Amino acid sequence: MSGVLIGIGVGPGDPQLITVKGRDALLGADAVFVPVSVTSTPDEPGYAERVVLAHVPHATPITRLEFELDEAAREASWRTAALAVAEVVAAGRTAAFATIGDPNVYSTFTYLAAEVRALVPDVEVQTVPGITAMQDLASRSGTVLVEHEEALTLLPMTAGLEVVRDVLRGGNTLVLYKGGRQLPEIHAALAAAGASDRAVFGARLGLADQDVRDHLPSEPAPYLSTIIVTPERKPTS
Ligand SMILES: C[S@@+](CC[C@H](N)C(=O)[O-])C[C@H]1O[C@@H](n2cnc3c(N)ncnc32)[C@H](O)[C@@H]1O
Repeated sequence: MSGVLIGIGVGPGDPQLITVKGRDALLGADAVFVPVSVTSTPDEPGYAERVVLAHVPHATPITRLEFELDEAAREASWRTAALAVAEVVAAGRTAAFATIGDPNVYSTFTYLAAEVRALVPDVEVQTVPGITAMQDLASRSGTVLVEHEEALTLLPMTAGLEVVRDVLRGGNTLVLYKGGRQLPEIHAALAAAGASDRAVFGARLGLADQDVRDHLPSEPAPYLSTIIVTPERKPTS
């Protein structure tokens, strides 16, 4: 019988923002896998790996899986990574894959799990939820994400600026991921929508050089940047 693959959300970066269940799942796994980008510096642990290392004894084997950011090479990198994980689960053992934030929110885990399932069809796939960057920024900036009948839209900037403008027109809360490099355009779109004074920004949340602001900078920021734009609200008494 095949083993189990668990996608574990380890939070956005602060090692204290992993759940007890996530930590226990890491400690109970036979093998722990972490993603690294092929562009990252060799020997530098990735973001998820830093959180794992804060909780898992060094005796537990931690294997880095390289993922390509480039679209053409990305799918091949998922397949190569899946081969290493499949070897563990095909032997009836438990493999844990640590991912930043939540494993069901724009995570490589989704694609890795699909590739592992293709190789080992009876693998049991589980996830342990993690605190998202959106929640961490709301907390660190003192922002109420939604109240009363407001809706919340979470968008990656890859959806395009027109979609962002549409959501801004809708009068609900907008959270934008993957927009760091396009901050100048986003800044202009918020100004045009009259929403500049309702935006908060957080880069590299939970890391040593975290940057949280009560406004949106107009210059490009790191890939790990999150923006929250709240709707106009009546002051509460
Ligand atoms: C591939 S998505 C991963 C989302 C993650 N699974 C989650 O649940 O939050 C990457 C995007 O998440 C956001 N993000 C993740 N970690 C972050 C952090 N520590 N600081 C700021 N933004 C972060 C950024 O918008 C980044 O571009």
